[in-house]
Amino acid sequence: MRDIETYEDCLLLITKFYDKLLVDDQIGHFFQQLDLTHHIPKVADFWAFILVDKPGYSNNMMGAHAKLDLHESDFKRWLQLFHETITEYFQGEKSNLAIERSKLVAWTMTSKLS
Ligand code: HEM
Repeated sequence: MRDIETYEDCLLLITKFYDKLLVDDQIGHFFQQLDLTHHIPKVADFWAFILVDKPGYSNNMMGAHAKLDLHESDFKRWLQLFHETITEYFQGEKSNLAIERSKLVAWTMTSKLS
């Protein structure tokens, strides 16, 4: 198995991840109303900025979550599905970085919950 190396890899990862998110009993409802033709490339841009040094992501990612009613258990499930998707398709240094970074961002988001 190979590592995450290109923008296309990030797009594949996020597309497969959203396949799981959308049908998930616990957190699927957060994603079912989104316009995925715009949303998925945005999320792929975010990860491509972190993992493959692709410039371009400039939104306020934390702000995008502020209006959602998120709970710690939702983050646990999100992380579980994200890590599951990564290990199904990729393996290596960047894959590990994606896992570590997602935990850090989720922790930061959780610590802002009231
Ligand atoms: C319980 C966990 C999470 C849920 C339910 C969730 C849900 C969502 C939703 C509904 C949006 C769309 C917001 C909008 O456009 O109005 C969004 C955007 C996004 N999320 Fe999450 N999210 C979660 C955790 C995370 C984590 C841990 C990360 C990163 C490690 C992340 C990365 C992103 C990115 C990059 C966007 C795009 C923001 C933008 O530029 O528009 N999310 N998320």
